[in-house]
Amino acid sequence: MSDADRQRWDARHGAVGAAGAAGAMPPDALRGREHLLPGGGRALDVACGRGGVAVWLAGRGFAVDAVDVSEVGLAAGAALAADAGAAGRVRWWAHDLDAGLPQGCAGPYDVVVCQRFREPALYPLLAGLLAPGGLLVVTVLSEVDEGPGPFRAAAGELLAAFGGLAVVDHRERDGEASLLARRG
Ligand SMILES: C[S@@+](CC[C@H](N)C(=O)[O-])C[C@H]1O[C@@H](n2cnc3c(N)ncnc32)[C@H](O)[C@@H]1O
Repeated sequence: MSDADRQRWDARHGAVGAAGAAGAMPPDALRGREHLLPGGGRALDVACGRGGVAVWLAGRGFAVDAVDVSEVGLAAGAALAADAGAAGRVRWWAHDLDAGLPQGCAGPYDVVVCQRFREPALYPLLAGLLAPGGLLVVTVLSEVDEGPGPFRAAAGELLAAFGGLAVVDHRERDGEASLLARRG
């Protein structure tokens, strides 16, 4: 990622004041289906942004690795974790995912979340990081109902990429695609 793009993400995260900041929250694709979450273990949040999902996972007892290129987003996540009394359960990694995952995030993970960040080159890596029985939670922008766009997944992209896992749920509509899948 270029410096200019990273600065844009920093500015975007920095522009969210305390009043506009969302707190700890489950990944969208898991909302109402939290029972699918393993009982605990290790979790990875890829492109974690301001850390709401990472802190939610920490609150559910997971030891979380949270990765993002934006130091501003990570700082917001660290503050949220401190407020939630979960600071010791999240490791924050400032890292450009264009270079793959940080070496310290080698897995295996019981949960891998990648929400609103699409990098198809990472798909095989994400599947490979799952522990047996581990849950993958992915949401990306989609061309379905929306039309083509540079950051949007073509119809069926997630199923094609993660078909080797046991797919629990797959949705594609209104410009968004999500997938829940387990490693057998
Ligand atoms: C739309 S936000 C999603 C954040 C979070 N996953 C969520 O659902 O709220 C996309 C995130 O991806 C991060 N990002 C974009 N490109 C990246 C890269 N090459 N490496 C690491 N993080 C990146 C941005 O900093 C931003 O926090």
